[in-house]
Amino acid sequence: MGKILITGGAGFIGSHACVEFLEAGFSIVVMDNLSNSKEESIRRIEKITGKTVDFYKADMRDEAAVRTIFEEQDIDAVVHFAGLKAVGESVAKPLEYYENNINGTFVLLKVMREFGCKTIVFSSSATVYGMNNPVPYVEDMPTSATNPYGYTKVMIEQILHDLCVADKDFHVVALRYFNPIGAHKSGLIGEDPNGIPNNLLPYIGQVAVGKLEQLAVFGDDYDTPDGTGVRDYIHVVDLAKGHVSAVNYAMEHEGFMPINLGTGNGISVLEMVHAYEKACGKPLNYRIADRRPGDIASSYANASRAKELLNWEAQETLETMCEDSWRFMQQNPNGL
Ligand code: NAD
Ligand code: UD1
Repeated sequence: MGKILITGGAGFIGSHACVEFLEAGFSIVVMDNLSNSKEESIRRIEKITGKTVDFYKADMRDEAAVRTIFEEQDIDAVVHFAGLKAVGESVAKPLEYYENNINGTFVLLKVMREFGCKTIVFSSSATVYGMNNPVPYVEDMPTSATNPYGYTKVMIEQILHDLCVADKDFHVVALRYFNPIGAHKSGLIGEDPNGIPNNLLPYIGQVAVGKLEQLAVFGDDYDTPDGTGVRDYIHVVDLAKGHVSAVNYAMEHEGFMPINLGTGNGISVLEMVHAYEKACGKPLNYRIADRRPGDIASSYANASRAKELLNWEAQETLETMCEDSWRFMQQNPNGL
């Protein structure tokens, strides 16, 4: 087993991935600047696994700091979660998003190359399928974006692809996540967004726990079975496990490979509301509101490449996603 550098490992998906890598027998080093997370999540990863984590509070744009990690640690592969991820904020602050996500990735890749570490798994997103592809999304469809956040994913995938063309020693997997939700079964780690959540599940969770008054369902006139938006929600622990499989695959395969991580099933907003009501045992206050600009009717994966190449498929159900999310909300009503 090797040593993995996990950038953004204190964040929502990264913290769950840390647990899965440790449990699979890897040793891990985490680099995070804590701009959207807390060091408490590192302690909780250690508590869940009973193992220690080498943590560097560092910014991936700081070349000297990244180099120090590679000097001090013998890194075999990088799993690259670090980045800013709020779509609306990216429209308001494009320079900050391009600078953080793209420049940060440049610094990381340059230092990796310098130290001869050429295996990386990158956090991409289903957002790269844009507005015009038919569902289910397949990896060889054309990519595009509608906002700066989405463009950072499209551009970083292009950069990684070009790097693999130029240097045959690079081994790259870009994992295109659909909608990660849920939390670790321990209830110790989960999604802890700053301020009012933009995404559906953390919003529902805060309504259920009494922190927010009412959910606005963004549109009930889409061309979907019940008129509300359909998404491919995936349990964050399933997603995290996909990264262990992806690192094992990447170590054996050169070149650039994009892979969807989704369940392949579409769930509507109202189905999700009702599943969460069942999990938390009470009705949720919601109203139908206008569509959110930029939203599409349906997004879900064709998940067959992950099954074929990674021997990975999602195991959890809508029910367990809601139960695990609710357990985390109850145990951590004010976050970590
Ligand atoms: P998150 O914000 O919880 O985690 C990202 C982590 O990166 C945070 O801990 C943050 O402090 C850190 N970070 C940001 N900029 C950094 C920098 N310059 N240097 C060091 N650390 C930095 O987000 P998440 O939901 O865990 O997402 C992880 C990755 O997955 C992101 O790249 C995100 O774009 C991508 N992704 C997320 C989703 C989702 O719905 N959560 C969907 C698709 C893709
Ligand atoms: C969001 C991001 C997208 C990212 C994806 C996966 C936006 C605009 N897009 O998309 O770039 O790749 O997450 O993380 O943020 N909804 C409500 N009420 C709410 C919140 C959401 O009805 O308060 C609906 C939405 O209209 C949508 C569904 O719930 O139909 C899911 O929304 P959300 O969780 O924000 O994810 P995405 O829209 O898929």
